[in-house]
Amino acid sequence: MDALVIRNPELLADALRGLSQPRKFMEPKWFYDTEGSALFERITDLPEYYPTRTETAILTAAADRLAAHVPEGAELVELGSGASVKTRLLLDRLDGLSAYVPVDISAAFLKETARRLSQSYPALPIRPVVADFTRPLRLEDAGHSRVGFFPGSTLGNLDPAGARALLQGVRDWPGVRAFIVGIDLIKDEETLVRAYDDSAGVTAAFNLNLLHRMNREIGADFDTDRFAHRAIWNAGKARIEMHLESLADQSVRIGPRDIRFAKGETIHTENSHKFSEESFSTQAEQSGWTLAEFLTDADRLFGVAVLEPS
Ligand code: TRP
Repeated sequence: MDALVIRNPELLADALRGLSQPRKFMEPKWFYDTEGSALFERITDLPEYYPTRTETAILTAAADRLAAHVPEGAELVELGSGASVKTRLLLDRLDGLSAYVPVDISAAFLKETARRLSQSYPALPIRPVVADFTRPLRLEDAGHSRVGFFPGSTLGNLDPAGARALLQGVRDWPGVRAFIVGIDLIKDEETLVRAYDDSAGVTAAFNLNLLHRMNREIGADFDTDRFAHRAIWNAGKARIEMHLESLADQSVRIGPRDIRFAKGETIHTENSHKFSEESFSTQAEQSGWTLAEFLTDADRLFGVAVLEPS
């Protein structure tokens, strides 16, 4: 094997593991290379993708109420910060922060975001952390309080056990005083599916970028025209599932192996769990939190929860 082609041995190991299961899957974190992160920012602007603008409206309307949960001198830690667009709504109201800590898996994206933020908020120390937030994030006891911020319903991209682990992990941060979490709410199937299968095909491009990335970084030879984006609502599990469906019987070279795909077989690439206020509050309570506030829009499309340690 040509060692030069394997630019990302961790991705190779994960691909070999996930794609040799009877039900093929990939970890969603692999979506977010620079191109994937940029495509994702485009998703957030799509007419069908209601979560971002709805959450932004909720955060804008409730910024003062949210700011009241952030103690003077606290550090604001955001998980999966991306372009930190929503964070600005909070940062504009918080002048007593000791630092803003954006945590993201895309190093290049994070660096650029931190650079832009420090131009807008020159007095605020910004301490970016390149990390996978699905693994426990250990923060040292620095003597100040902390508030977690996890918008975008990203919590819903974890399975219930992973979501519980994350909620417990944040609960264990030294000095934690609150956790502000965005969650997408259960609604009619058509609205849900369209949000993940837009007419301009941006979400399809985002999903297919995973195959392009494997071609770029681990020398795979996916013919991306022979896979199609699928978004389906799994009512029993209250989640949207994203898949990449093989349009033919085919075989794909991945590192040392040939992986076979039957026509119609899929790679399960992501879940987006939806919640009710009750289901979320139960999950939070099982992880050591109390629901202090639940903010929503008039149509109850999206929720912003403020959790406090119980
Ligand atoms: N967490 C958001 C959601 O589930 C954003 C998101 C994550 C997303 N992965 C995605 C949106 C893939 C579209 C496609 O909605």
